[in-house]
Amino acid sequence: MQTQTEHQAGANWLAALDAEARALVAAVDAQPDARRMLEGTLDAEGYIHYLVQTYHYARWSTALLGEAGHRLRRLGRHPELAELLVQKGEEERGHDLWLLSDLKNLGWSQEQVEAAAKSPAVDAYTGWNFFTSRAGVPTAVLGTAYVLEYLSQTRAGRWAERMQAAAAIPNIHKSVTFLRSHGALDGDHVAEMVRILGKLTDPEDQEAILFSARVARSVYPRIFREGGASSRPLAA
Ligand SMILES: [Fe+2]
Ligand SMILES: [Fe+2]
Repeated sequence: MQTQTEHQAGANWLAALDAEARALVAAVDAQPDARRMLEGTLDAEGYIHYLVQTYHYARWSTALLGEAGHRLRRLGRHPELAELLVQKGEEERGHDLWLLSDLKNLGWSQEQVEAAAKSPAVDAYTGWNFFTSRAGVPTAVLGTAYVLEYLSQTRAGRWAERMQAAAAIPNIHKSVTFLRSHGALDGDHVAEMVRILGKLTDPEDQEAILFSARVARSVYPRIFREGGASSRPLAA
């Protein structure tokens, strides 16, 4: 049974996590290319940059989440969160293939995508999350997942709709599978996380989850081209 004080601390903690998620949406909206996605006017080069960088981190999602879940199990801590991490890892399986398919319909082969340079934001994201998953506090990955799924429920479906409506990119209707699917799925995923994380009272895990949410909020917006179309492309 939770005491009144514990209940309040838990509610405050979830509110702080939610604030990070909303701050991420605001930081993404402030990126020129993300703003153009919301208006539907992003050019093919900017959208391809976004999809390629997304591929370079999303391809690791199943491993990041699954390994964190299995390690948490081995440590004998928070069985429900270990279950949630493994389940989320499975949910992410194959999402990298949606990205490859969207990119193929925009004229990019898998070889080109694999050879493309990763942005520093992607390296920071994968480096940090592999660290927490394999050697840090494994529940931390849930902070990353929470803010990114919140962003996805708020923006992914809308980005897809607006870009299709404006049709500024040739073949765009065949190239929004990743965005459309996430817009449809991640509302439920966020609700499920709120339900399960609402029961977490361990301050160390709360802090770790919140810290990872902050890292994702700082790092993720930089996967877009810096300054939008005026930026120097990352060399392949
Ligand atoms: Fe996904
Ligand atoms: Fe999800």
